[in-house]
Amino acid sequence: MELKARAPGKIILAGEHAVVHGSTAVAASVNLYTYVTLRFPTSDENDDSLKIQLKDMDLEFSWPIGRLEEGLPGFTSPVSSTPKSCLPESLKLIAALVEEKNIPEAKIGLAAGISAFLWLYVCIHGYKSATVIVTSELPLGSGLGSSAAICVALSATFLALSNSVNLDLSHQGWLSFSESELELVNKWAFEGEKIIHGKPSGIDNTVSTYGNMIKFRLGELTRLESTVPLKMLITNTKVGRNTKALVAGVAERTNRHPDAMASVFTAVDFISKELAELIQSPAADDLAITEKEEKLEELMEMNQGLLQSMGVSHASIETVLRTTLKYKLASKLTGAGGGGCVLTLLPTLLSHTVVDKVMAELETCGFQCLIAEIGGKGLEICFEGSS
Ligand code: PMV
Repeated sequence: MELKARAPGKIILAGEHAVVHGSTAVAASVNLYTYVTLRFPTSDENDDSLKIQLKDMDLEFSWPIGRLEEGLPGFTSPVSSTPKSCLPESLKLIAALVEEKNIPEAKIGLAAGISAFLWLYVCIHGYKSATVIVTSELPLGSGLGSSAAICVALSATFLALSNSVNLDLSHQGWLSFSESELELVNKWAFEGEKIIHGKPSGIDNTVSTYGNMIKFRLGELTRLESTVPLKMLITNTKVGRNTKALVAGVAERTNRHPDAMASVFTAVDFISKELAELIQSPAADDLAITEKEEKLEELMEMNQGLLQSMGVSHASIETVLRTTLKYKLASKLTGAGGGGCVLTLLPTLLSHTVVDKVMAELETCGFQCLIAEIGGKGLEICFEGSS
């Protein structure tokens, strides 16, 4: 039996950083996916191991089942329907199993993701042989939710081939889960994210699972339905960033200038709320869509200005802003800033020539450009051969 899942990445349309201080933020899925294929060996294959292949990096890690039983004991009767947190004792055992694989130093960031994989797999399937193949269209560690997408896709394939999910095995093409199944996948994915990030907010895995857009404030998530398709140019500056340090920098600035920063956060709150209203409001024709896009561009520019005043922009981000502005396009950083990715709205009536020119100019600066549709479907699965 072979099964594939795809889970999208995310962008933050408005409200990053300010959300940490109680403002509203809006996040959306992007149609850039992480794919996970799960295959159980047939009885005549005689394969007694658990393997994960990271195709994009040409890496494979494998553990004999006996080594898993010995190194991570106690999973003889896995409980797939109840998401389980990985306690520090188990995490230590998993870390030892991952360490044995001598992950190349340059790729050491993968270790936490591999640990999440081992935890999710063993909790859901125990000591069963399998091969898991991962590929992704999402750049790693750039704020597009690559780790959440992998946790969602892993959880989905593992659950789909367990007893806790009921699927139509004869379905052709991509198939969605039911609401209750999505909820289960989301909870497991969150457990994986906890292994990778320590204390994630749950936004990335929720957007990846359900797709579309969500509004969030003080840990409360509201799902939104966008009425018009939005297209964004995502520019990956390839400048590595440290989310924790950037969040701490904003907190320090807030301590130094509490009243001024409170006003900044309040302004962001209004921007996010207006943006959420805007994307849900109907737009009947091209004129209405253009008006909506113009308002959205203004809100993005205002949010970017406020992110600059929080001190989280970066020379590379400013280069993207200057370049896109030459073509009268509005941009803002997305996620933690300090590098990472920048969003540029591509209005519906914008010519392909302009898009090609701006992309060419950004690429000569050494940036990576991706075009993505915003607010599309979340997790989907497909039985191999039918996609
Ligand atoms: O780096 P990202 O894309 O995961 O976004 C971080 C968003 C912040 O608002 C800066 C931090 C947070 O936890 O909300």
